[in-house]
Amino acid sequence: MQSNNETLIALDLFCGSGGVTLGLKDAGFKVVGAIDLNTKACATYRANHPEVRLVERDIREVSPCEFADLVPKKLDLLAICAPCQPFSTQNRHKSKDDTRNDLLSTAIPFIETFTPSLVFIENVPGLQSSDVFTFFTTWLHKIAGYAVSEPIKLNAADHGVPQRRARMILVAAKGVPLEDAVRIAQAEKKFVRDAIGDLPPPSVGRTEANPDPLHFARKHTPLNIVRLQHIPKDGGGRESLPDHLQLACHKGKKSSSFSDTYGRMRWGDVAPTLTTGCTDITRGRFAHPEQHRAITLREAARLQSFPDHYVFKGNASEIATQIGNAVPPQMMHCIAQSLKKALTRQSKD
Ligand SMILES: C[S@@+](CC[C@H](N)C(=O)[O-])C[C@H]1O[C@@H](n2cnc3c(N)ncnc32)[C@H](O)[C@@H]1O
Repeated sequence: MQSNNETLIALDLFCGSGGVTLGLKDAGFKVVGAIDLNTKACATYRANHPEVRLVERDIREVSPCEFADLVPKKLDLLAICAPCQPFSTQNRHKSKDDTRNDLLSTAIPFIETFTPSLVFIENVPGLQSSDVFTFFTTWLHKIAGYAVSEPIKLNAADHGVPQRRARMILVAAKGVPLEDAVRIAQAEKKFVRDAIGDLPPPSVGRTEANPDPLHFARKHTPLNIVRLQHIPKDGGGRESLPDHLQLACHKGKKSSSFSDTYGRMRWGDVAPTLTTGCTDITRGRFAHPEQHRAITLREAARLQSFPDHYVFKGNASEIATQIGNAVPPQMMHCIAQSLKKALTRQSKD
């Protein structure tokens, strides 16, 4: 039920640098509280969302009561974006003992305390085949009495983000129409050129004189620059490298059987999924469509749909991690509009 006619109240668990919060705020939600333990992500979050009560601690040590005064009547939405690495296909070192596996369940006390009208989960599609997911959704339905949606697969590219990014969302509803909440609006397609085509060639390395502190290129080794010079512009890959420039570990392997390392993005296509290594050409198809360099942090932020005014704190590697881990705010905006529709519909009935 909507708390009053104007304000939809939300809590953001595992808020990171704030992609979910930004999408929710843009859609008209009031995010009152957030939790994350990463110092640099929290610094970024605070810089952009100073009005939110951010608790910078391990969620396992946080009591829901720490937010009770901010939720005087009813919580409309609890957003949960637990770490996805344990369930990601990109993680080749998965372990059953990874303590992050059970972080989803840490949301249970928050649901018991606040009984939010909607519970929203965002993660990688791999989460849905885990015991953690089965336990949590069974608990939500059988014990907590929520109507629970099927896992819904989304691609950020269908929601106005210039990036292929497969995600899984799930919504649980109590007292509001679930069918409205899961009818996620699409948005006009955006491509790499739309997002970064207007940016000037960057300096190499961060300089004081740089007008945009995020738009600087990494320094590549002379050998990697020669490699990039051999990769065809606008979408070329490392299969075009002559034998003497191939990496020993790539020799004899088909491009598709390994990864897109050293590949260039294509102007008229969406970017590949940005990871925490999104400014490193050795970790994916993260080379600029035509310049002989990896994309800059500014380009990564735009391909993840962060506006230029969004402030990122930390060093280059910490910022790349925050960007790669983020929920694209534009995709979250589309999702938030559906969630809002469900909450608003209920309040009119
Ligand atoms: C997928 S990222 C969240 C992305 C974020 N929701 C956004 O919209 O940009 C997962 C976050 O969980 C945080 N995290 C991991 N373990 C945690 C814990 N035990 N307690 C609190 N936060 C944790 C990480 O620091 C990371 O920022």
